[in-house]
Amino acid sequence: MTDFVSATSFHYLLHPHTTLLVTCCDDAGRANIIAIAWLTPVSINPPLLALMIRPDRYSYPLIRATREFVVNVASREIAAQTLFCGRRSGRDVDKFAATGLTAQPARLVRPPIIAECLAHLECRVAQDIEAGDHHIVIGAVVAAYARAGVLDAEGLYDPRRAQPLLHLGRNRFTTTRADSIEPALPRG
Ligand SMILES: Cc1cc2nc3c(=O)[nH]c(=O)nc-3n(C[C@H](O)[C@H](O)[C@H](O)COP(=O)(O)O)c2cc1C
Repeated sequence: MTDFVSATSFHYLLHPHTTLLVTCCDDAGRANIIAIAWLTPVSINPPLLALMIRPDRYSYPLIRATREFVVNVASREIAAQTLFCGRRSGRDVDKFAATGLTAQPARLVRPPIIAECLAHLECRVAQDIEAGDHHIVIGAVVAAYARAGVLDAEGLYDPRRAQPLLHLGRNRFTTTRADSIEPALPRG
């Protein structure tokens, strides 16, 4: 038996996705946070990532105007705050004040980082491509760093010390287990 899904639900078959809290700000420096699950690296050298955002989000014109944003990696501890940032608009509410998340200055861009997150990627907009009902915003990564202690000696997340918040779809999340799997390479 096969479970067919509707044409508009195909994307749930590709979840879970790492949940990101993307920060941006207006001309006056007032910061906003949007939850983003559709985001992927697209190039290592030059370092580029792409996030998929609907143009009707309050955050979209801010990112377009200032051409800067920060990708903050959410952890399981801030699931409730993350859902709030993904279900309320910055048009109506100050999400930093409402969630209690902590804004700290970024190194090279104007939008703040979120202190409670696992890692931060500061970006400048390189390209904006319309694609169906979303826009693909390509960001050049100008600085990338993680909270002390969450990476192992190889620069990978240590699953005992970092549990990223993974979005299953709708209002549901999961996370990683404390163990990791590194299969032996096939011989030859
Ligand atoms: C977990 C989660 C992931 C989301 N991922 C995306 C996404 O990838 N792209 C998008 O445009 N909206 C996404 N959303 C919806 C926006 O976060 C939501 O519409 C938010 O209220 C927009 O905030 P803003 O109006 O302040 O910009 C997501 C929502 C949740 C809860």
